[in-house]
Amino acid sequence: MPVTTIEWVDDHIRMIDQTKLPGELIHLKIKEIDILAEAIKSLRVRGAPAIGIAGAFGIVLESQKFAGESKTSFFAMLEKTTTYLNATRPTAINLWWALNRMKTLGDNHKDKSINEIKALLKQEALNIWEDDRKICRSLAEHGAEIIHDGYNILTHCNTGALATADYGTALGVVFTAHAQGKKVHVYADETRPLLQGARLNTWELMHEGIDVTLICDNTAGVVMQKNQVDCAIVGADRIAANGDAANKIGTYSVAVLCKHHNIPFYIAAPYSTIDFNTKSGKEIPIEERSPDEVTNGFGRRTAPENTKVFSPAFDVTPHELIEGIITENGIIRPPYDINLKKYATS
Ligand code: MRU
Repeated sequence: MPVTTIEWVDDHIRMIDQTKLPGELIHLKIKEIDILAEAIKSLRVRGAPAIGIAGAFGIVLESQKFAGESKTSFFAMLEKTTTYLNATRPTAINLWWALNRMKTLGDNHKDKSINEIKALLKQEALNIWEDDRKICRSLAEHGAEIIHDGYNILTHCNTGALATADYGTALGVVFTAHAQGKKVHVYADETRPLLQGARLNTWELMHEGIDVTLICDNTAGVVMQKNQVDCAIVGADRIAANGDAANKIGTYSVAVLCKHHNIPFYIAAPYSTIDFNTKSGKEIPIEERSPDEVTNGFGRRTAPENTKVFSPAFDVTPHELIEGIITENGIIRPPYDINLKKYATS
């Protein structure tokens, strides 16, 4: 059973504080929108699908608290909360996608009473959570087709249960292949600077009894050169209409290395990660993180005071480097500008 990263319980959000892993498994009880915004910004909850769910639950928190009788004020509160939460992390389209799904639902029921709209919003957030669980399973089933017995798979960042409502995207593919009885081994990139690979991917894989070897990000080239990698599978925070994909910083380097070594490089993401309003990767907003995460990560200074730092949280892998995009609707192959649209279900 995968761990439950985030869920709605009674009147609050219950989530794992991922900043404390792997040392401590601590759950947070969140009732305040500002605490939720801080949790998203500081990566207590992280991973594109999980922050989408957190956003939807945030709308429920604020709407349940609303005590007024004016519908205009109620909808103004919804608008304000949506804008506030959407600004917490700019790259993952899943956050906007979930917030927009909540907003659209509210807009479509303007004729109902405030209490009825509150109930509908809560149900919609629970639906988003439940849908993500189904998406993980179906995406993983499709993805497992590319994994053969004895495969060595390279991963970057964390894309498992901690990043979703079920057992993940790229890591879900690995879990499913393993459950099908295929022998798999994972090289987990540690994923500087916040070590989602070292702290979270290894934790999840070991929990599931899957053979994993942790490598520094700069070791990926060596294991590929030694013919020890059969494929790389990573997640995505936003996929542009031409197939360019934004994911954790360092993903682009992995894709370039894969190209050089003739290793297939796959993206695994829910179909909702495709942003048809963004034509190419050049238009994807890239979050920049605090220099402290690089110079003073995990409480120890590793560079002189006042060192100049450039720390984008994500990079964009051009579509030419992507062998396939694994979604719940199937594995989408190039040409992406034509094929991405063909996989829509409605
Ligand atoms: O900054 P993070 O940890 O939220 O970044 C997460 C990633 O880049 C993941 O690969 C991506 O969100 C996909 S998670 C299924």
